[in-house]
Amino acid sequence: MENFVFHSPTKIIFGKDTEYQVGSETRNYSKKILFHYGGGSIKRIGLYDKVVRSLNEAGVEFIELPGAQPNPRLSLVKEGIDICRKNNIDFILAVGGGSAIDSAKAIAVGVPYEGDVWDFYSGKVIPEKALPVGVVLTIPAAGSEASKSSVITNEDGWYKRGLNVDIIRPRFAIMNPEITYTLPPYQTACGAADIMAHVMERYFTHQKDVDFTDRLCEATLRTIIKNVPIALKEPENYEARAEIMWASTIAHNDLLSTGRIGDWASHAIEHELSGIYDVAHGAGLAVVFPAWMKYVYKHNIDRFVQFAARVWDVEIDFACPERTALEGINRLSQFFVSIGLPVTLEGLEIPEDRLEEMADKCTNYGSKQIGSFVKLGREDVLNILKLAAK
Ligand code: NZQ
Ligand code: ZN
Repeated sequence: MENFVFHSPTKIIFGKDTEYQVGSETRNYSKKILFHYGGGSIKRIGLYDKVVRSLNEAGVEFIELPGAQPNPRLSLVKEGIDICRKNNIDFILAVGGGSAIDSAKAIAVGVPYEGDVWDFYSGKVIPEKALPVGVVLTIPAAGSEASKSSVITNEDGWYKRGLNVDIIRPRFAIMNPEITYTLPPYQTACGAADIMAHVMERYFTHQKDVDFTDRLCEATLRTIIKNVPIALKEPENYEARAEIMWASTIAHNDLLSTGRIGDWASHAIEHELSGIYDVAHGAGLAVVFPAWMKYVYKHNIDRFVQFAARVWDVEIDFACPERTALEGINRLSQFFVSIGLPVTLEGLEIPEDRLEEMADKCTNYGSKQIGSFVKLGREDVLNILKLAAK
């Protein structure tokens, strides 16, 4: 096991009616905040009114910034930074999913910085200060409610890039599974793929003696595999929604990374898909991850056999372990299909004419390689995209 520091201090307030605590939690930080949210689902589901009432009751003044869209844009982040500066705002409340939260985090690092906030996402500068951020979560998926990441799309070139620093972990995350009853089935499924991907990025390592975190990863994956079909059939099944919601946070708050080295190549490749084609991140991962697996499994067949046996209950074929490994990958794809996700670029309606461009953009910085389980260069990424095509 690798040495590690685990410090993931987001306060989680979980369960029924917890959204009414947003005012009092926010009041611990500020009396004047930016209230940031997405395209309006929070109004349709009645959450907006509850948040406003709770903030008013706690005496918290707010300025609203709606419009964070899936694959949140840099231009709105800049608008948020201006609003905060002009109004002396020192706290940002994000109500929504990964998109509103990531946008809030970007505003939070941008306000105290004199340069262009994109410097942090292009890797030019590491931020040292950030305003505190709080969250009311509406979709279990990205795990941004307790993660150290923010992913923003720059419309100038459609670069989708991530920032990973501890100072942007939210101070609190309010999580009421009932709020997720209204999720469209496709968003529930996309969320499931993202949660599973966060676990699998950590699971596929060559590290030996990481049995405890292996088991935590497998438990998290099995929880999703069991509960997502239930939630799709019975959208108001509280227990299933609660299991998924808590699993989504644990999948990405770094507990499952302790003592091991993650891969993250599939995420890097997917960010090119959603950056250029604006597809849902989870759907992109359902396409990329199985293709990545088929491309790399021979580098550690034992790990893929373990995945097949412990996560998917595949009987191990000791005479031909490769067959077991491939069956595990096959079961993952079948699961994605069974919950309504595409597993090919064609299914995602992405044509094949820009695969080279995506492979370039994905590897054209730093060491020009991505991943850790297997280091991948431009040609590898192109091959994976071709494997994902049909
Ligand atoms: O725009 P609104 O009105 O919020 O509607 C959203 C959006 O259309 C809707 N929705 C959310 N909760 C709902 C609801 N509709 C009805 N009822 C509810 N309760 O669902 C759609 C998707 O929302 P979004 O916030 O985009 O989803 P998600 O949480 O999947 O976030 C995706 C973004 O997070 C990034 C992704 O790349 C993508 O940009 N990621 C962030 C990470 C992080 N910060 O740690 C890690 C991830 O790997 C990921 O890259
Ligand atoms: Zn993700």
